[in-house]
Amino acid sequence: MTPPRPTAVIVLAAGEGTRMKSAMPKVLHTIGGRSLVHHAIAAARGIDPIHLEVVVRHERDLVAAHIAECDPDCLIADQDEIKGTGRAVECGLAALPAELTGTIVVTYGDVPLLTSETLREVLAAHEGASVAVTVVTSHISDPTGYGRIVRDADGSVARIVEQKDATDDERAITEVNSGIYAFEATLLTQALSGLGTDNAQGEKYLTDVVGVARAQGRAVAAYVLADVWQTEGVNDKIQLARLGAELNRRTVEAAMREGAIIRDPATTWIDTDVSIGRDTVIEPNVQLRGATTIGADCLIGPDTTLVDMEVGDGATVCRTQGSLSVVGPGATVGPWAYLRPGTELGAEAKIGTFVETKNANIGAGSKIPHLSYVGDATIGTGTNIGASSVFVNFDGVAKHRTTVGDHCRMGSDTMYVAPVTIGDGAYSGAGTVIRSDVPPGALVLTDAPQRVIEGWVAEHRPDTEAARAAAAAGAAAGRVNGIPETTSRRRNGDGDPEEAQAAPHGVLWARPPGAGRCGGRRPGDEGRADAGL
Ligand code: UD1
Ligand code: CA
Repeated sequence: MTPPRPTAVIVLAAGEGTRMKSAMPKVLHTIGGRSLVHHAIAAARGIDPIHLEVVVRHERDLVAAHIAECDPDCLIADQDEIKGTGRAVECGLAALPAELTGTIVVTYGDVPLLTSETLREVLAAHEGASVAVTVVTSHISDPTGYGRIVRDADGSVARIVEQKDATDDERAITEVNSGIYAFEATLLTQALSGLGTDNAQGEKYLTDVVGVARAQGRAVAAYVLADVWQTEGVNDKIQLARLGAELNRRTVEAAMREGAIIRDPATTWIDTDVSIGRDTVIEPNVQLRGATTIGADCLIGPDTTLVDMEVGDGATVCRTQGSLSVVGPGATVGPWAYLRPGTELGAEAKIGTFVETKNANIGAGSKIPHLSYVGDATIGTGTNIGASSVFVNFDGVAKHRTTVGDHCRMGSDTMYVAPVTIGDGAYSGAGTVIRSDVPPGALVLTDAPQRVIEGWVAEHRPDTEAARAAAAAGAAAGRVNGIPETTSRRRNGDGDPEEAQAAPHGVLWARPPGAGRCGGRRPGDEGRADAGL
């Protein structure tokens, strides 16, 4: 059987929320990466009403604009200067087509944990019982402030009395009105038009509709909700944090039910819209925010914050801050990486330690292993960017782009002064400043001669630890035949073969590092000096 379709859901969000003590309207505060009113709208949308409407007044334009972003099909109704939940619903009905029939559901914009499933059950119970009103209630130990459910001797709901209008006996009642209801549309419309504001608060109370229905001989049902969290509203910032933590607990559990492995639920924060694939491991202290999607078999964390990120299957992201970026399948990121918007890392590629990227397309299998800034760049496949390299993208006025081809071997400490293009298979020497384009297969060098002034320390820094160490090593007091000793050693190929690779012309560059998982080591990693010289 298809579930019944309600005529409308009216979400009340006109109240001021003064206890929030905030410049921002209460319903725009967020938990789980969504505003309170967005949670309420999403729950309502989930039961597929013919009309979905939010009643606004306080900070009307801000709230209405936000709602249009959350759900463009959601209607907005304005409450006038008459106060009260009853008036709010009346204004809501006035903005809908006249003479509605069927069921009208009412919820609050500041009750974020209510689910579509609960609304569906309330709706089914209401329509199954053929009653005029179904009010969702809960039993709580401290009912102070809530409307109390007054039942007849036979247990049927007689009326709802507000705290401020209640007698001492009525205040002792611990069954409270959650503020969520299903109404027969015709009864609701007609009852509201007859209601006054003769009560302790001078407001038009929606709760009075219950008494009106009973006076007309109609039945009113209570739907007792055991999960009290779903009825709890946010009135201050303490409740905002409490409900935020509970929502997170629920989201983290749902992710584990879907197959994620979460090592430390207490320090894992996952927004409502995040998805995580099976057998992905989330280490402690990870925040997955916004519209982040994580594939299967990934390793995320520890200490990682990802906002609106897309991470492919089998990727590793460790101790990283990233936003609006894509990490390809099998790629590795971190530890200590910063991915700014527009980073696209290809499959099996690597962004390593202390690397910052922005607007950078990095091709499959390419690696930026250490201490680099890559901004406004396109890097081909299978290319290695040596340690400590900077893509110099800003000339003080405008940003420019750098393109590096496929299978390049770019030396450590290379500066790419954009705009510049490096062809496929090119090499650069360590310390090169690239100011103009490099053709495919070329070696580019900044070929300044190295100066060595033998004995400089003994002469200019006598009586220092450096001078004593140099003396103990038998350092010469001056140049020998004008040939610096270090240069002659290097020319003779006397370098340590374990430490770095030698290129033609004696140039040394970075050896591509192993693509091991964060914190892991692979056989053969030992003794590699992937920073080069
Ligand atoms: C209301 C109920 C009370 C119930 C409680 C649950 C009435 C008269 N009382 O209390 O029985 O236990 O909710 O939280 O209905 N709102 C408007 N326009 C208004 C007033 C309120 O849109 O003029 C909205 C608020 O933005 C909020 C919701 O209605 O989303 C509830 O308002 P609030 O003032 O918190 O509830 P109470 O009236 O105290
Ligand atoms: Ca309230």
